[in-house]
Amino acid sequence: MNNTGRIALVTGANKGIGYEIARQLAQAGVSVLLGARDAERGQSAAEELASQGLDVSFIRIDVCDTGSIAAAAAEIDAGYGRLDILINNAGISEYTDGAPGKTSLEAVRRELETNFIGALAVTQAMLPLLRRAGAGRIVNMTSSLGSLTLNGDPSWPFYGVRLIGYNASKAALNMLTIQLNAELSDTGITAVSVCPGLVATDLSGHRGDRLPSEAAVFPVRMALLRGHDAKGVCLSEQGAIPW
Ligand SMILES: NC(=O)c1ccc[n+]([C@@H]2O[C@H](COP(=O)([O-])OP(=O)(O)OC[C@H]3O[C@@H](n4cnc5c(N)ncnc54)[C@H](OP(=O)(O)O)[C@@H]3O)[C@@H](O)[C@H]2O)c1
Repeated sequence: MNNTGRIALVTGANKGIGYEIARQLAQAGVSVLLGARDAERGQSAAEELASQGLDVSFIRIDVCDTGSIAAAAAEIDAGYGRLDILINNAGISEYTDGAPGKTSLEAVRRELETNFIGALAVTQAMLPLLRRAGAGRIVNMTSSLGSLTLNGDPSWPFYGVRLIGYNASKAALNMLTIQLNAELSDTGITAVSVCPGLVATDLSGHRGDRLPSEAAVFPVRMALLRGHDAKGVCLSEQGAIPW
């Protein structure tokens, strides 16, 4: 499929899965805006990819700072006039998060602010640009830890992972996917939640042996889908994840 001319924004793309999503989207022919909250880290990540001949440029965007989000939207508008693909990837997991009885409320607030409100704020700001693309695509990087169904299933292998803030933030992000599809049903824009699996990154404390480069393949495939395939669902490489 020819993706030349398509523009993508990936938030939190200076490292981890987001960086690999940026790389693989660019390898597929998409012009990628590599979003990062830290200018130095973002610039150096974008330069690294650009030095490999990829069409990647840095854009500063802190998903918790509405000023930086508005500035990023204005910059994309001025440079391209539209946005074809938005990957809400920026995310955090706080080590002081835990079970409801003992979690840090501050950690929960930060997780909700970044993982849910951040994605909502970025989506809101980018919607006018996505509308102009005609068939915009939104990929929300979720986790199976956000599944209400699985959290209530004692036979689920991750049943014991009680991170009330992180899990709730991803459940809320999934709600964003569902409501976006309802709100945008008369447009060409579709949204999907995608879980990359357990990936060895800073966020996971480098648990597991799945590399970011492997984990990025499926979200990139979902981002490049056109039309109304795979919308309003939560997916992993293994198939659908229940809400
Ligand atoms: N790793 C896993 O096992 C796993 C599993 C399921 C889902 N996920 C999801 O996948 C996504 C990527 O995670 P990852 O594992 O690649 O984590 P990571 O390596 O820790 O990368 C997280 C990225 O998000 C950025 N970020 C954090 N807060 C931000 C903010 N306010 N504004 C802009 N960027 C911000 C970080 O920037 P800085 O470098 O500036 O901190 C970093 O670029 C997250 O949404 C995560 O929840 C990961």
